[in-house]
Amino acid sequence: MNITTKAQYNKAIAKLEEAALAYYESSDLVIDDATYDELINEVAKAQAAHPSWGPASILEKVAGGVSDGGDVTHKRAMLSLDNAFSDEELKEWHDRMLRVVSEKKVALCVEPKLDGLALSAWYENGKLVRVVTRGDGQSGEDVTRRAGQIAGLPASISSSTSCEVRGECVMTLSQFEDANKARTGNGDAAFANPRNAVAGAIRRKSDDVLYQMTFAAYSVYDLPEVSSLSHSALMTLLADMGFTTAIGLGAAFGAGRVENIEDAVAACNNIAANRVSIDCGIDGAVVKADEPAVRDQAGETGRAPRWATARKFPPDTRTTTLLDIECSIGRTGALTVRAKLAPVAVGGVTIEYCTLSNPSEIKRKDLRIGDTVWVRRAGEVIPEITSVLLAERPKDLKPWTPPTLCPRCQGGLDKSQRVWRCDNGRSCGLAESLIYAASRDALDIEGLGKVLIEKLIKEELLSDVADIFELEASDIAGLENMGDLSAKKVIDQIDLAKSVPLSRLLCSLGIRGTGRRMCRRIAEKYITMDSFLEADLDSLSEVEGVGSVRAELILTEVAELQEVIERLLALGVGVAEPVTDSPAEGPFTGKRVCVTGSIANMNREEAQARVESLGGVFVSGVTSKTDILVCGDGGGGKRTKAESLGVSVMEASVFLAL
Ligand code: IVH
Repeated sequence: MNITTKAQYNKAIAKLEEAALAYYESSDLVIDDATYDELINEVAKAQAAHPSWGPASILEKVAGGVSDGGDVTHKRAMLSLDNAFSDEELKEWHDRMLRVVSEKKVALCVEPKLDGLALSAWYENGKLVRVVTRGDGQSGEDVTRRAGQIAGLPASISSSTSCEVRGECVMTLSQFEDANKARTGNGDAAFANPRNAVAGAIRRKSDDVLYQMTFAAYSVYDLPEVSSLSHSALMTLLADMGFTTAIGLGAAFGAGRVENIEDAVAACNNIAANRVSIDCGIDGAVVKADEPAVRDQAGETGRAPRWATARKFPPDTRTTTLLDIECSIGRTGALTVRAKLAPVAVGGVTIEYCTLSNPSEIKRKDLRIGDTVWVRRAGEVIPEITSVLLAERPKDLKPWTPPTLCPRCQGGLDKSQRVWRCDNGRSCGLAESLIYAASRDALDIEGLGKVLIEKLIKEELLSDVADIFELEASDIAGLENMGDLSAKKVIDQIDLAKSVPLSRLLCSLGIRGTGRRMCRRIAEKYITMDSFLEADLDSLSEVEGVGSVRAELILTEVAELQEVIERLLALGVGVAEPVTDSPAEGPFTGKRVCVTGSIANMNREEAQARVESLGGVFVSGVTSKTDILVCGDGGGGKRTKAESLGVSVMEASVFLAL
């Protein structure tokens, strides 16, 4: 939006006020944070160009929130933080602070910036007596009755202690999921994200559902140690008293005291790269002067301290338009549903599609084509539509009608389970499942691709995986565009595929409830097909990620596939799973990591070994599947690509520190 008229200016201010009020006060969000930041920016530009339209202070007012405050006056104002949106802006803040305090260097403390609601907790003689929301910064609302629902906020501390502890009230991922289950179970719209779930839960009037929350402390006042100890030491003191602290939540990823701004920048990037591993939503990192003397000297503006700033990360919740709901049938005959969205950048990645688990999810959330929806992508987690922004719903939108027939073969649909299935089961998706069976993840048969498989199905030469191994060169040579030579090549490749290890053979069967990784874990346990076939419910449930429900499904599937498996064994397909050392556990576990540029004293092989010893999988190029790019000197090309793909970039200094 480009503001060129006074009317547009007034409208933008009104929108910002409405949005800020909703942000601080309710669980019904109006616009997403990125749109809010953009609008603030536009208003600031318009205000600078046309000072007569309104006072500059209007920006401070809206940006600081327009809550009416509450009944409880704060002991001291609850300030906000200024923002830095890049490493450069962070360094500029640091330079400004150094100039104010006339120092060349100061110790800093880096913490995750938790995305929740600020609370002030008052302790008198060791007892928690009051919990107050931020409100308008001067006064807030008394929410003491919610204290029992907030983990990390002790009801009592050492008996002689009186102090004020401030921190952020958040929901961990599991608390958020539980809250939304309870919400939707009651027929209420789900919360868009944990931050607005906390806003809804903490100020709730009724006690019919008690949502669980978590507190993380980030400052303390009125303790005798406050004037002598550094901030990081005070936080250790709080942790010893039983508080969860913001530093504690980020400690594994570089949060804590650092001696210079370069290390602070690296720690912020480390926290950003590990955003998903911190169990609650974070929207940035906070960098603060660690020593009380420096803070006193730096002072504050009316709105925010000069001794701290927030290094903001890309937002993980956005709104966008739901353009379409697309249904298709997967390899195993299950109906999959996905949402087509107007492209939107969430958590640093542009999202155009979003998986919906099943038609009932659409009904439960009442998603309608044309709706404005909240999309959330927490770190590397698959993006999801959390809810609809009902205020934006055009009048004439009709509820979505689910398909009545299989979208592929037009057969009937079995709707008796949560996941809907085509009545024709595996034979509906035969081509897809055989294409997958022959692919790299499974049998890896070069030359047996989509076109050939479709022809072989048409000729009724293929109707299951075992048929592949019964093919003869003459079956193939007679097909269009095939000759003796190409047929022999394919048959040779099929012969080679007979020595496929158990994990990939399982993969080729397309057993529902299993994917590539699950097949590998199962194969690592049973080693051979014979011993897998003897697995019972208890033993299979023990495989990581399986559990009793999935184990039952897998066993039913295996029983269904018994005849195909027996034929495969009789044809001599499959060898024992090679026993490998289990990969190292570490900060890179489960991550695909690429290393670029030159890193001090480390050649490529050493970098690879280091990645693997930290639990990661070393990859040579940056694609959308890469999780982290470690960037040394001169790695600019890959850095640009990583940034454009939303891949986390880790500086070499952080990598070396790991
Ligand atoms: S320090 C004087 N540390 O961010 C301000 N704030 O955008 C002291 N926040 O109102 C705040 N995590 O509610 C601080 N580690 C952290 C924080 C944090 C989240 C919130 C806080 C503040 C808001 C400003």
